[in-house]
Amino acid sequence: MGYDAHFRVWRGDTDGGGLQDFTVEVNEGEVVLDIIHRLQATQASDLAVRWNCKAGKCGSCSAEVNGRPRLMCMTRMSTFSPEEVVTVTPMRTFPVIRDLVTDVSFNYEKAREIPSFTPPADLKPGDYRMRQVDVERSQEFRKCIECFLCQNTCHVVRDHDENKTAFSGPRYLMRVAELEMHPLDVADRSDMAQDEFGLGLCNITKCCTDVCPEHIKITDNALIPMKERVADRKYDPIVWLGNKLFRR
Ligand code: SF4
Ligand code: F3S
Ligand code: FES
Repeated sequence: MGYDAHFRVWRGDTDGGGLQDFTVEVNEGEVVLDIIHRLQATQASDLAVRWNCKAGKCGSCSAEVNGRPRLMCMTRMSTFSPEEVVTVTPMRTFPVIRDLVTDVSFNYEKAREIPSFTPPADLKPGDYRMRQVDVERSQEFRKCIECFLCQNTCHVVRDHDENKTAFSGPRYLMRVAELEMHPLDVADRSDMAQDEFGLGLCNITKCCTDVCPEHIKITDNALIPMKERVADRKYDPIVWLGNKLFRR
């Protein structure tokens, strides 16, 4: 059964903006992105929104719906009661370009800072057989669709622009962990995670995990194991001495 919903959408650009109210038709089975598209088609043809797949796989349509970071294409209107005001705002952690579109280049800069996979120099094709457990571990992390909802949610940067230079955020600390746990990667990423990518700033609040649409256990399977590796290195006297003597 269709009904008229009350939508409140943030409109504006780099100079500022505010919430604008709309009354808009909703039909059975629709998602928030359908309603945003209907607004574009009927009432606000210049409303800016980024989207691509409408299937929860491209990671483009991230926004905040009633304050919660979500993919708009995966948020069913049936989540809300017909009387509820549905407020849609752009991701808060990244600078607004226009309306619901933010500049997420922070994430690409952080991605580029991570040294790529480094296998042993003398390894020949076919020399190594991956164990299933190693395949499965990285497969979980590879489900990431780069929606940046976890990056947007983490309190370390959400209200603290000043931390952005020192903190890569959960998505990229997860990438460091993925490479660190790879049986063939020979680069030393424990110190790097702590000193260059700000692992120490994460205090395991797990908000990143809570909003991940791919249900990746970012905190439990990537960040905590990475913290344990850093702690082992720091507090094990043999490892500490070895590092002092033999560190490249
Ligand atoms: Fe999105 Fe999850 Fe990837 Fe973070 S880890 S960018 S929340 S898919
Ligand atoms: Fe932030 Fe996730 Fe750590 S939300 S504080 S990176 S557990
Ligand atoms: Fe692709 Fe929503 S449009 S994830």
